[in-house]
Amino acid sequence: MSTCRLLHGVAEAAQSLTDRKIIAIPTETVYGLACRADDDDAMRKVFAAKARPSDHPLILHVAPEMNIEGWALFSDSALTLANEFWPGPLTILVARGALTSDVVTGGRDTVAVRMPSHVLAQEVIRTIGIPVVAPSANSFGHVSPTCAQHVIDDLGNVIDGVLDGGPCDIGVESTIVDCTTSPPQVLRVGAVSRADIERVLNTPMAEVDGKVRAPGMLASHYSPNCSMHLATSRVEAETLAVSLRKNHRNVAIIDHVDNITEYARCLYSDMRSAAAAGADDIIAVLPTGEGLAEAIRDRLSRAAA
Ligand code: TXA
Ligand code: MG
Repeated sequence: MSTCRLLHGVAEAAQSLTDRKIIAIPTETVYGLACRADDDDAMRKVFAAKARPSDHPLILHVAPEMNIEGWALFSDSALTLANEFWPGPLTILVARGALTSDVVTGGRDTVAVRMPSHVLAQEVIRTIGIPVVAPSANSFGHVSPTCAQHVIDDLGNVIDGVLDGGPCDIGVESTIVDCTTSPPQVLRVGAVSRADIERVLNTPMAEVDGKVRAPGMLASHYSPNCSMHLATSRVEAETLAVSLRKNHRNVAIIDHVDNITEYARCLYSDMRSAAAAGADDIIAVLPTGEGLAEAIRDRLSRAAA
């Protein structure tokens, strides 16, 4: 039975956080599992609830007009990007400030910071008055939740509440740019494209070195609990589906390549509903192009790994 309460609004959500609870909140990208960034015990509960290894650091979520000087130290490039893309789906990696706990960063000297544009997220953070951490509110390795029901399905038994803000607008996680290197490097692609960042900084991004720079960006992430296959066209997907069905496999096809915004918004719920409907195999048609299309290809190839 689910122990998770449906919260009635911003005031109750903020009160829950002050009472040291862990609750899911909506953002424009995906739902996050939030707690106060100054509450080490609550953050440990967040790691435990997700079954997430403690060396996978958390993102500080901040609100407009909040003074975060003690938490994070912004370089020139970081400031330029924040001015251009915040509030919005861009997470910026900067040097960590003294207020930021080792539990947030996994002991690193960098910290990831993001200012969500979602009104409910902003109001909760503003009411708290300090940053909140919010990893995606899914169990470790599973796809991120894009509506309150996804959160309840994954974590309903282990978190204290969820603030329902309806389905997420964007549907894939924020872009992460590391501004502690020169030039910066894009560690995870989301709705803010590499080209957007290069235009604003007026410099090409550095190649991400071979190592997994953002722990958590492992292949084999975003797993939907059934076999994922990738196709480069609808025809290829249909052909593969026919041959799988000959072997009595239950097959679902995911394909919104004619509308990339829609594709991102539906991707995770399509994966979840196909798995819930008993699909043995999901075949996804890969979109072409940059920006969100690149983010979708990235998540799909991890899901298929
Ligand atoms: O859109 C998003 O960013 C969502 C919503 C809820 O805001 N949050 C999210 O958080 O996706 P999470 O924890 O699922 O993913 C954050 C990623 C992880 O891969 C983590 O390892 C990386 O950011 N990260 C965080 N801090 C880091 C740091 N100091 N250095 C390198 N990677 C870091
Ligand atoms: Mg995540």
